[in-house]
Amino acid sequence: MSTKSKLLEIFTENKDDYISGQNLAATLGLSRNAIWKAVEQLRNSGFEIESKPSLGYKLVGETDIMTFDSINELLSIPCKLKVFDSVSSTNDIAKENPPSITPTIVVANKQTKGRGRRGRDFFSPENSGIYMSIAFEPSFDINKSLFVTMATALAVCHAVEKVAKVYPRIKWVNDIFVNDKKVCGILTEGQTNFESGKIDSLIVGIGINCFPSKVPEDLQDIVGWLSDDHSKFSRSELAAEIINEFFLVLEDMESKEFLREYKNKCFIIGKQIMVYPKMDGKGIKARAINIDENGGLKIEYLEGINARRTEVITTGEVTIRPV
Ligand code: BTN
Repeated sequence: MSTKSKLLEIFTENKDDYISGQNLAATLGLSRNAIWKAVEQLRNSGFEIESKPSLGYKLVGETDIMTFDSINELLSIPCKLKVFDSVSSTNDIAKENPPSITPTIVVANKQTKGRGRRGRDFFSPENSGIYMSIAFEPSFDINKSLFVTMATALAVCHAVEKVAKVYPRIKWVNDIFVNDKKVCGILTEGQTNFESGKIDSLIVGIGINCFPSKVPEDLQDIVGWLSDDHSKFSRSELAAEIINEFFLVLEDMESKEFLREYKNKCFIIGKQIMVYPKMDGKGIKARAINIDENGGLKIEYLEGINARRTEVITTGEVTIRPV
């Protein structure tokens, strides 16, 4: 653990109390100058630390701040981690990095131009969510990218269960729900190599609402969060766990076990749904039957010229139809 992290731990445990520089130096076995430097680094990362000559230092304000150290020290794989307070879109920042064997991971506290699937905006307010992108060179056939999105959804569920102690469900293909509200969306994009014309890296973008925020009125019935209680878990811990789980699930991606678990968590199987094959097209009533071995959703149409016919869909969007 870095000095910064150790210091932060002490400050968080003693929030709102002053601790003298001398006391901190003795506890951590460092000089007072080293403590002062680490305090400055924490301030530069966004932590508000008051200091008074006779009393020492006190952490005030927001403590759940994602920093390079707070995430990096929990990662179990080597990666190029970049942590920002605010970016346009973490997927766009990840794309600016040349593809490499070591995955690049971009994490942000806020996005000003967060993107969702089908060209939609993704609501990305500050201090309440995690916006991150994992860019990597796939070792598998690129047409498995549907599997990658599904594997990511499963990895997010594992991490959320472990860290937030909340048990989410998946809406095929990449939405994660808690208490009937969407708490996480995933956007997988390919990066084309200009010379070969082939996709040589995948960028998996994950946006997860951890805590309440001021949600715009038109999204209030749709958007949810993991917990009302800001102190229930730290976003850094969840971000790191999602990254660790992502690479674990990816290793196992082509196994039957992965799909079985995905199916168990997918709450639309057996339900009536609306299928939207085209971007702005009309929805068609259908029933979700199963998920096939390639990750496609097997449906039975319930209306229109295709009524009673079954089909496996691999793109498009589905919504749950209130019965
Ligand atoms: C969706 O639900 O339609 C997908 C949303 C994906 C949002 C994430 S947030 C991090 C990454 N950066 C983006 O601009 N989008 C993805």
